Amino acid sequence: MTFQLSECEIHPATGPRLRQVCRFLIDQFPPDRPILERVIATGRGYATWTPYALYHGEELLGSLALMPLRIWLEGQRRDMVGIASVATVPAYRRMGVAGRLLDHCLAKADQQLLPSVLFTSLPRVYENAGFQAIRQDYLGTSPANVPRGGAGLGVQRLETINDDDCNTLATIYDSPGSVFSGKVERDAQYWRFYQLLFNTSSNLRILLCSDGGRPCGYLRAETEEGRLLISEVCLEQASAAVIEAVCTHIAEEARLQSAPWVTLSLPSDHAVRGFLERCGIRCTREPAGICRETLMVRPPRGRSLDTLSRLQWPLSDKF
Ligand SMILES: CC(C)(COP(=O)(O)OP(=O)(O)OC[C@H]1O[C@@H](n2cnc3c(N)ncnc32)[C@H](O)[C@@H]1OP(=O)(O)O)[C@@H](O)C(=O)NCCC(=O)NCCS
Repeated sequence: MTFQLSECEIHPATGPRLRQVCRFLIDQFPPDRPILERVIATGRGYATWTPYALYHGEELLGSLALMPLRIWLEGQRRDMVGIASVATVPAYRRMGVAGRLLDHCLAKADQQLLPSVLFTSLPRVYENAGFQAIRQDYLGTSPANVPRGGAGLGVQRLETINDDDCNTLATIYDSPGSVFSGKVERDAQYWRFYQLLFNTSSNLRILLCSDGGRPCGYLRAETEEGRLLISEVCLEQASAAVIEAVCTHIAEEARLQSAPWVTLSLPSDHAVRGFLERCGIRCTREPAGICRETLMVRPPRGRSLDTLSRLQWPLSDKF
């Protein structure tokens, strides 16, 4: 397998190239199959996901997708470029294909002075391109420590979400009580993407809380080995009584799952984290041995990480 990188070309993956890239990505990332099959069927990407592919003549060597996102960080909106779907055809690995795609796509982020972000289990691949690992505080506690009580909210357990559910969640998500660092702005397209991912995962539940029949908050619970992961909590109004009621549902969900540990993927400025601190509940790092992908951020060329060094990315929005 010989080729010169200088003879290769990068193309946006559209039309027949989009389908070719998706078929290749299904083999590389089997959990993404439902999304990729949808793209193959419709010929359209999802949300802002924009794939690029490196070709030697007609032969596909690798791909990388950009996914522009806007997040909240310390009270301000920040535009970022998510990097996803990085893969090289096995026969062409360790020959600079991913590096070439990264250079090409990061130049686009630099032109717009935007930082880039990704999750990976291979941080080494991205270090030379300027990405730095940002330590994530996945804090948690024993369910026995989670306070119970509060407003006595009704709860509906959703294992799949339909369009109406999505609209309800979106209204709560956008309410002023739900602003926290790392929160991703979600438009209608993004919610369709969220819905598809949610409905094709068997370990996720949304607990939709209501007050007098009116939806007022929700939490997203994920069953992981030996623990319950709370990857999202959104509240219309973050009063102590409502937060305590939500905590009651977290503790109850952990009991139902017989989970000895609850991890909260929530940043330090999240209302639930603040409440637990005020109650004197000590959350600690997840027990050793839990393997999570590394969050990496690259500032635009010539800039420093600045506040991005404190970025905590919610696991509900892994892309
Ligand atoms: C990860 C992957 C995309 C790398 O592609 P590649 O074309 O072989 O990478 P390159 O040859 O351009 O190498 C880029 C850098 O990563 C390093 N690298 C590549 N593969 C690596 C690996 N498996 N482990 C550690 N470092 C690796 C290279 O040494 C190079 O470092 P340098 O910049 O210091 O020279 C490829 O192995 C792949 O498709 N894996 C399966 C899908 C996957 O895991 N994707 C990553 C999702 S985040």
